[in-house]
Amino acid sequence: MPDNSKHSRQPFGQYPRVRMRRNRSDDWVRRLTAEQVLTPADFIWPVFVKEGGAAKEPVPSLPGVNRLTVPALVKAAEQAARLGIPMLSLFPYVPKEKKTDDAREAYRKGNVIDKAIRAIKQAVPEIGIMSDVALDPYISHGQDGLERGGRILNDETIEVLIKQSLALAESGVDVIGPSDMMDGRIGRIRDALDAAGHSHVKIMAYSAKYASNFYGPFRDAVGSKSALGRADKRTYQMDPANGDEAMREAALDVAEGADMLMVKPGLPYLDVLWRMKQAFKMPTFAYQVSGEYAMLKAAAGKGWLDNDKCVLETLMCFKRAGADGILTYSAVEACALLKRL
Ligand code: PBG
Repeated sequence: MPDNSKHSRQPFGQYPRVRMRRNRSDDWVRRLTAEQVLTPADFIWPVFVKEGGAAKEPVPSLPGVNRLTVPALVKAAEQAARLGIPMLSLFPYVPKEKKTDDAREAYRKGNVIDKAIRAIKQAVPEIGIMSDVALDPYISHGQDGLERGGRILNDETIEVLIKQSLALAESGVDVIGPSDMMDGRIGRIRDALDAAGHSHVKIMAYSAKYASNFYGPFRDAVGSKSALGRADKRTYQMDPANGDEAMREAALDVAEGADMLMVKPGLPYLDVLWRMKQAFKMPTFAYQVSGEYAMLKAAAGKGWLDNDKCVLETLMCFKRAGADGILTYSAVEACALLKRL
């Protein structure tokens, strides 16, 4: 029988023969037709390590996040491995006395990151360890690079980043994450690692790292906020206005030998993540940064948002936008939620 009903002549012609809601009717069919899944293997857990004192020290602007001593960090690593989290990303809390203008603490054998990597590698060899390459936790003025006459020096900074990368490799790091945004650092670090026999160490380039205002709580956690004062990082981190420029940054990092790419921050930059994944087809990661975590925790604390549901929703959105994995302070809580919800 010819279908000359009014609906078949509408621009989207098939209503109500096609009913999108049929595949949403029940939990089983929703699960069956889901385009993405979230698993513990999607998470990289950023953790803060400190020397001595109480085992755990809360970071007020990051509720639920603690700075840990090395023994407490080893326990956290065991927990993460049990949950199936593939990798940790280690960040140091460095007391003021150890910060200098040349950031030499960054590559000192026996610094807190060196101790942490060795201890985790010994106790939990099955978990991957990543660590940042940048000078900000170690430098008296809180910038990611060396400064002279009010300018952040590119090439001189790279020489220090190379020392830091080699030190991390010596400690046993699996992945280094240059987060400094100096030009040409991926290639120089790659060459230096290879020449020193560390060709197995992987590089996750913070390819598109924006000069974002969402890093505030992180700077509290590593103790670089007061050092930085009113200064900003806009001469090396990217302008939030720019997307094409992020593709050029990523192209350089790929050409220089990066193994994995990253976009940071996360949710406000999903378009950049999508473009980068589509353009390069590289393992591509998103960093759900401290400010994003803090916003959600603050709203949930007031009872304005459902923390658990929003955590999983945000993480799923990264997957939909093309992320192969997400650095998130919610990694452990998300593993518990995946089992429960
Ligand atoms: C340091 C670094 C920062 C973050 C990761 N590595 C801060 C910054 O660039 O000032 C931010 C992470 C977060 O906010 O969660 N280079």
